[in-house]
Amino acid sequence: MKSPFLFISVLFTFTSPGFCAPEQVHLAFYTGPWDISVSWITFDTAEPVLSYGTSSSSMQNVTGTTNTWVFEGITRHSHAVILKNLEPSNQYYYKIENRLFNFRTLPANLNSYKVCVFGDLGVYNGRSTQSIIKNGIAGKFDFIVHIGDLAYDLHTNHGKLGDQYMNLLEPVISKIPYMVIAGNHENDNANFTNFKNRFVMPPTGSDDNQFYSIDIGPVHWVGLSTEYYGFEAQYGNSSIFTQYNWLTKNLKEANENRAQVPWIALFQHRPFYCSVELAADCTLYENVILRHGALGLPGLEAEYIKNSVDIGFAGHIHAYERMWPVADLKYYKGPNAYHNPVAPVYFLTGSAGCHSSGMKFSPLPMPWSAHRSDDYGYTVMTVANQTHIHFEQISIDKNEAVIDEVWVSKDVGHRHSEEMRIDGEKFY
Ligand SMILES: [Fe+2]
Repeated sequence: MKSPFLFISVLFTFTSPGFCAPEQVHLAFYTGPWDISVSWITFDTAEPVLSYGTSSSSMQNVTGTTNTWVFEGITRHSHAVILKNLEPSNQYYYKIENRLFNFRTLPANLNSYKVCVFGDLGVYNGRSTQSIIKNGIAGKFDFIVHIGDLAYDLHTNHGKLGDQYMNLLEPVISKIPYMVIAGNHENDNANFTNFKNRFVMPPTGSDDNQFYSIDIGPVHWVGLSTEYYGFEAQYGNSSIFTQYNWLTKNLKEANENRAQVPWIALFQHRPFYCSVELAADCTLYENVILRHGALGLPGLEAEYIKNSVDIGFAGHIHAYERMWPVADLKYYKGPNAYHNPVAPVYFLTGSAGCHSSGMKFSPLPMPWSAHRSDDYGYTVMTVANQTHIHFEQISIDKNEAVIDEVWVSKDVGHRHSEEMRIDGEKFY
């Protein structure tokens, strides 16, 4: 009698894409809007080669690099190819093995574009996933910024849940850049091995995806790790100082370049400001150490204030909250607060959908809270030009309705300063 396993084995051979088939294909910006990294994973050895071109019938080969890594007994080969100096406003095709993809580059006159921003999206209960895929493929936004807590978790079940998540998102992240920063769920007790090896973020900071910056049109984007603080006891504090020193220099240079790039937008996982029932992340020790520093560790908020950071995004708290301009617990309310803001404007957008629920708002919002919602959803940021940026909160619960929106605008050359911060109210 023939073994049933033989039949299953033969069936698998003919139906499986193959163990070394490229999967988890995704894009990211590299050193600028027209340098794109293409990344994918195989489970067997493979050459880091793809072909690309502006026509699917005429493509050239490019060879990249392979990083082989082992996590809990599973070997993965992360391949990456950098496509440099792409032509603006062009359709590109790329092929890895027998898989063909395409994407469109941003225009040369890059004054306006749209970004999908969210944190905290998992495989299970990923309420926003299909909306993000559908609208990303439809061109409703030009790239994605995921501010930490991916997959829940990238490393779960020997990393297989991370594989599943990246394959789930592949239809959209193989077509538009997917920019990420680490959250607490990226701590795999192996010093963020899964996070470091699965992505290729701009090589302008830590060079391991933890912190970096990139100029895209009128916005200087900066991604930071709040997890250096969160896991300082586990991994030591040297990265906190390295990041801080890099940030002070980076923001100083960005300020000197304001005439060309007038906006500074920062994204990080844990928020400076929020108002939920369990407030440790919003006002207590964890928050204080992140904003102010403690025990000899440098805090981050003073640099944002001093360098006139315009916009700050955070996740971690599974809700949406728009803040009034706020600096060191001093907040500025009013109908004109978002024109020439006198302090950074923060958005909490951690409600994309993850496995854990039960987040509760505090009975009363904090005084710097302008609007809050616990609907599932994500933020769409429209950079309109050098002086205007629009923010919309999309609710999945309400069939993609816009449940909050605001324009943040400033006159040419506006930067907030200590001198401007005179009429605010201080929260203690
Ligand atoms: Fe988190």
